[in-house]
Amino acid sequence: MSPNNKKVFRKLEGILLGWLPSSSRVSWQALKTRRKMNRQFGRRLDPFDFERSEYEKIRLNAMEEAIIGNPQEVLEIGCAEGHFTARLAGRVQNITALDISDVALERARGRAPNARFIKADLLEWAPSVGQLYDLIVLTDTLYYLERPIVQTEFNALFGSISSWITEAGYIILANGFGDEPTLLNRRSFRERFEKTGLILVSERIVGEAGQNGVRCLLSVLRK
Ligand SMILES: C[S@@+](CC[C@H](N)C(=O)[O-])C[C@H]1O[C@@H](n2cnc3c(N)ncnc32)[C@H](O)[C@@H]1O
Repeated sequence: MSPNNKKVFRKLEGILLGWLPSSSRVSWQALKTRRKMNRQFGRRLDPFDFERSEYEKIRLNAMEEAIIGNPQEVLEIGCAEGHFTARLAGRVQNITALDISDVALERARGRAPNARFIKADLLEWAPSVGQLYDLIVLTDTLYYLERPIVQTEFNALFGSISSWITEAGYIILANGFGDEPTLLNRRSFRERFEKTGLILVSERIVGEAGQNGVRCLLSVLRK
């Protein structure tokens, strides 16, 4: 399906399924995303080319450099096959890593055996009562969730995630982009965290626009 047809399809799906209760729409979206991601990870190992791509190496290095101090409790959202989880495991005691894809999580477990892995859809998940994190890593995942069918729930996510960090906590937010409109969309994610009360600590663009013209907007936000 062409990107334009996809957009039209998603709009129609949003209108047609809009009358369903929130929980049904979210479950429907989660089912579709899990199938899609399992298919993608099932095709081959390392479908996002973490081990081959120079850009990915540079991006993961920049994400690691963005870690401030010694966070004790860390939540990584959308951990995929655990390439960044393994880096975190070298410097953090308690890591909780969440992903919607069981295929990806199976591989991630092998890379970071000491992390706690959770299979869940971010829109359906919340930490247990009282659990807060010193650091939340949220990279190249949010844009998978921004769909008309779950727009209300997606909008609410920014406030929820902000409420999961400690008083001294912070979020590392990174999202790839290949053109100006996509960069604006990625910037809007950061702005929506700011609207929840978080403060921007630093922001930079990572990558040389070499491989496929993709670069990444990397932001650090704190309470
Ligand atoms: C492109 S990978 C990013 C991996 C890693 N965070 C990074 O920055 O390289 C996106 C990951 O987000 C996961 N994901 C997508 N939608 C999700 C959802 N609704 N809930 C949880 N994880 C999701 C996918 O399964 C995939 O592993």
